[in-house]
Amino acid sequence: MIKTDFGGCTSFVKETEYQEYLDKALVALDVLENETGAGNDFLGWKHLPTQTPESLIEECEAVRDSWKAKGVDLVVVIGIGGSYLGAKCAIEALSHSFARQLASKKDAPEVVFAGHNLSEEYIAELMDLMKERNVAAVVISKSGTTTEPAVAFRLVKQHIESRYGAKEAAERIVAVTDAHKGALKSLSTQEGYKTFVIEDNVGGRFSVLTPVGILPVVLAGFDMRTMLKGAAEMEEATAVKGKDNPAVQYAAMRNLLYSKGKKVEILVSYNPKLQYLGEWWKQLFGESEGKDGKGIFPASVSFTTDLHSMGQYIQDGERMLMETVVTVEKSNRSVTISDDPQNLDGLNFLTGKHVEECNAMAELGTKLAHIDGGVPQLSVSIEKIDEYNLGALFYFFEKSCGISAYILGVNPFNQPGVEAYKKNMFALLNKPGYETQTQALHERLGK
Ligand code: PA5
Repeated sequence: MIKTDFGGCTSFVKETEYQEYLDKALVALDVLENETGAGNDFLGWKHLPTQTPESLIEECEAVRDSWKAKGVDLVVVIGIGGSYLGAKCAIEALSHSFARQLASKKDAPEVVFAGHNLSEEYIAELMDLMKERNVAAVVISKSGTTTEPAVAFRLVKQHIESRYGAKEAAERIVAVTDAHKGALKSLSTQEGYKTFVIEDNVGGRFSVLTPVGILPVVLAGFDMRTMLKGAAEMEEATAVKGKDNPAVQYAAMRNLLYSKGKKVEILVSYNPKLQYLGEWWKQLFGESEGKDGKGIFPASVSFTTDLHSMGQYIQDGERMLMETVVTVEKSNRSVTISDDPQNLDGLNFLTGKHVEECNAMAELGTKLAHIDGGVPQLSVSIEKIDEYNLGALFYFFEKSCGISAYILGVNPFNQPGVEAYKKNMFALLNKPGYETQTQALHERLGK
């Protein structure tokens, strides 16, 4: 169960102000629950935890088992934004930190990601890896027309076809896309790929609990049923129309702090496995709230690592920051610090302590220091890093984001700003249909 604690905000806000924002958050929750707000045709994510059919997981497991029978040891997952960050976050959080280097490999293929950049070196190096491995691919794009994954997929598809032949390639490629439209859908039909559907009413950044996240997580050998159970618990807890609803509380506090000039929210974790939780969370909140000249700017850090790079600014730089710390109460592993009779490093005061105890004291010490430095501290805790708690975190942040954006007065479910760079890129690459923009850009650039 997720616990929230805003004790680290009390010196920055008055209780009456918080109550006022809780009331606003409850109004926003009503809008979300009654589906009366902007973007209300994109609310399909709300009941995914409780309404995802068992047959979907079984279908994903069937893909996993058929690839296992072929000896597949590398799955390339192709997608960008909401079509990759959730799966990347879950797999990073649940995997051994040194999975690749360990001699004892787990009984699941390695999952790598592509199509989330346009780097030629990245794709060339992916080709190097694919040549050495037994490969299959999952291509994920809701629109089916996004350039980055389309470019990567063309190249990965060609590699798989030339290695295994077109017939076998069709058994090694699975697509996750719209039920009817988009280039990826037509290509998949033509090539005979197995496809999973992203429903129309679920936007990319809210899609981690659809096949977009479920299929890669299952392929990587993790337990999606438990992840959905954790999310289901939060579906219930965050539907409560009361001030004890944790998503209402979080949305209220971050908006109150925003109204007081805290324009940047940093998501903090003290376990490197959660680094991609920060990346997923930044997209969720950044794309949902950053519009109409408004929105908290989402940033993320991994402590204690980044205390040695960003710590100075957070402690002492411009006072526009708030921090949301994702606390993990229990480590999944146990390592104690050993005694050293010579004590040359002066560390014997730590003898017998768990490393995680040092981490917890670093977290507490940093919290107190940052409060003293003028940075409000919001805390969101989970018991440990596992499928259950990750599912709960995904849903908690999604629900909080919807409520928060409605308090702010923006449509959480569109992303008009993402189109601007695409138009310029297409024009500069001479895409047919963009001739006028190409000419205008060439004039602007003096070409
Ligand atoms: O949240 C979103 O809608 C976006 O980040 C999309 O997920 C991203 O642009 C990828 O889009 P698509 O899945 O259509 O390729």
